[in-house]
Order: sequence, then structure tokens, then C-alpha cells
Amino acid sequence: MQLSLIVPTYNEKENILPLVERVHHSLSSIDYELIIVDDGSPDGTAEEVKRLSSTYPLRLIERKERGLASAVVRGFEEAQGEALGVIDADLQHPPEMIPQLLAEIDKGADVAIASRYVAGGGVEDWAASRKIISKGATLIAHLSLPSLRKVKDPLSGFFLFRKKIVEGINLEPRGYKILLEVLARSKVQGVAEVPYTFTKRERGKSKISLKEEIDYLRQVVALALSEDLWRKAIKFGLVGISGIGVNEGLLFLLTDTVGLSEYISPIPSIEASIITNFMLNDLWTFSDRREGSWLRRLAKFNLTMAAGAGITYGVYSLIISLTSIPYLIAMLLGIVVGFVWNFTLSFIWTWRKRPIRKDA
Ligand code: GDD
Ligand code: MN
Repeated sequence: MQLSLIVPTYNEKENILPLVERVHHSLSSIDYELIIVDDGSPDGTAEEVKRLSSTYPLRLIERKERGLASAVVRGFEEAQGEALGVIDADLQHPPEMIPQLLAEIDKGADVAIASRYVAGGGVEDWAASRKIISKGATLIAHLSLPSLRKVKDPLSGFFLFRKKIVEGINLEPRGYKILLEVLARSKVQGVAEVPYTFTKRERGKSKISLKEEIDYLRQVVALALSEDLWRKAIKFGLVGISGIGVNEGLLFLLTDTVGLSEYISPIPSIEASIITNFMLNDLWTFSDRREGSWLRRLAKFNLTMAAGAGITYGVYSLIISLTSIPYLIAMLLGIVVGFVWNFTLSFIWTWRKRPIRKDA
């Protein structure tokens, strides 16, 4: 399997020669090409690459714009190999690890990550503040992107993957975290993480700044909105709000206009809102998961909603009896817990996702 290794560079002139030599030495028995994507470095990085291109299997791509992730995606587009890889130019990612990563791909992994956060991995020489930022950023990724929780270091800048997983997928390169983009948008199956130590930079400077941190947060929001779980939760919430309207409207109509007792009218009102919520969720939120009988799903929905209403009431009464929180606030808290219950059960049971059959 041919490997195309992408190296983004900005002002890495002094690192190019040792990088190219170490990569070449590590990959002596592997068919590979090195694609260096330089964004007009004023220090003469591109000239240094050209000087070496007669001796080593490397290609230079020169761009006018700036940006690590977009440079890497440009490299992906130019790559010939079946396996693609990304490594920084500054030697903080040891090239000697590439064969190990490639071996994971050969064994069947879609993505092989050089990972700081699995046993045996780590960082050398980072200030406490950078460690905290890195851990915090990883936690944010894990909380907002549930499908990536298994991956310990989704923000690593050193990884290999099969090219076919990104074919036909629209990556939105922004900021630094290209691996996150690949993992979230390509919905990969097998991910292998190999421990490594992110070493000290010997030459040149890091280009990371506040802009990259902000870009990261924007990237996470964009990816979270493309996650099935959050999309469905938002739709489910909007349907829930429409249901509050149905419930309150009917309650008013039955009590005030028809003249029913206010102890009786909530019953048809609540049931009506459950039915309209069900129909909207079935047609919209979970339109991709309509399996089997409509009546059966309606029954499941009624069941979980009834339990959710009980939970709302339970939380509400617990809060007002144990604390001095105002009852209207307590009801809101109850509704939130009931909502989480209702959504979770809908997501995992009423509109259960059928497992993908292996033979399909
Ligand atoms: N083409 C191009 N354009 N390359 C860039 C740019 C740019 O605008 N900005 C940075 N680079 C190149 C650098 O020249 C270097 O080769 C690589 O991208 C990483 O840049 P650093 O500035 O050294 O990043 P870092 O060390 O702080 O963080 C790196 O390692 C972390 C751990 O794996 C990045 O790869 C992070 O994304 C990663 O989390
Ligand atoms: Mn670096």
C-alpha cells in the first residue's frame, strides 16, 4: 500500500533537512511520497524543499493563503497513495513511528493515531497551562461529539488513514484540528491509537495562537450540529415546545370555553400534545428510523412520555420539599430532566436505530 505523507509548513526551513532524512530513513522499505505544503514562508522553506527534491521522493505545493488544516486538505487532494498521513515538520512528531502506524492500517484500522493520551504516551516540556488547554480542548470534543468518545486523542496532529474514508466527504478545514474533522465527518469504524511522546521543539517556533483556539471552538460547534444526536435533540426540543402550545391551548379551550373541570381538562390536553408530538417526531425528528408498526411506536412514545411526566413531577416535588428554590424554577428543572428522559428513551427505544448488518 502506497503512503502519501503530508507535511504542512510555515517557517520551518531549519527543520526540513532533518525531517526529510529521518522520514526517509524510517520508510526505507516502504513505498511513499512526501508532500510538503508551504504557505509562502518568508524564511525560505520552499527553496530548501526544492533543493532536496532531486534526492528524495518529495513534492512541494506552494499556496498563497495561510492555514494548517486547509494546507493539509490541499495535500490530501494531491496525494496518490492509498494511505494518507499527516506529520508536523518541526519533529515534535517522531517520524520513526510511521511504520508502526502503517502496520495498524495494514491490520485493518481505518485510522491510526499517534496518541498522547493512551498509556505510554505523553508530552515533553509543556507548561502546565498548555497541558490544561490541551486536556480541556479534548474534553470539549468528547462532550460535544459523542461518536468520538472512544478516541483518546482526537486532536493529535500525527496520524495515518485510508484514503477511501474521506472520498466523497466534504471536509471543512478550519484552524488546526484536521484529525477531528476526518474522524467526525467520515464516521470511521476502526481507530487504532499508538502511544507516543510529543517532544520538545528544537528549532523554530509554534504558530499556535488565540485565533486557532477560537477556530477550534467554531469547528466543534459546526461538527456537533452535524452529529445525529444533537440534530435530533434540537428537533425533539422544538417539537416539545410545539407540544407545550397544544397542551396549554387545549387546556384553556376545554376549561374556559367548553366548561370542563380543570381537573379533567388536562388529561385530554396532555394526551393530545403527546399525540401531536409523536406525529411530528415520527415525520421529522426520527424520519430515518421508522421501523415496523406506527401504532407500536405510538404506544412506546406514550409510555415513555407518561414516565417522563412522572419524573418531571418527582423532580419538581423533591426540589420544593427539600430546598427553598421557587416552585416555577423547580418546574423548569423538572421539565429539563423529563425532557432528557423523554429524548433518551425515544432515541434508544421508541425509534431505535437498527444495527448495521455485517452482511448488508
Ligand atoms: N502550510 C502551513 N500553513 N503550515 C502551518 C501553518 C500554516 O498556516 N501553521 C502551522 N503550520 C505547520 C507548522 O510549520 C508545523 O509543521 C505544523 O503545522 C504544526 O505547527 P505548530 O505551530 O508547531 O503546532 P503545535 O506544535 O503547537 O501543535 C501541533 O501538535 C499538536 C499535537 O499533535 C499541531 O499539529 C496540533 O494540531 C496538535 O494537536
Ligand atoms: Mn509544533
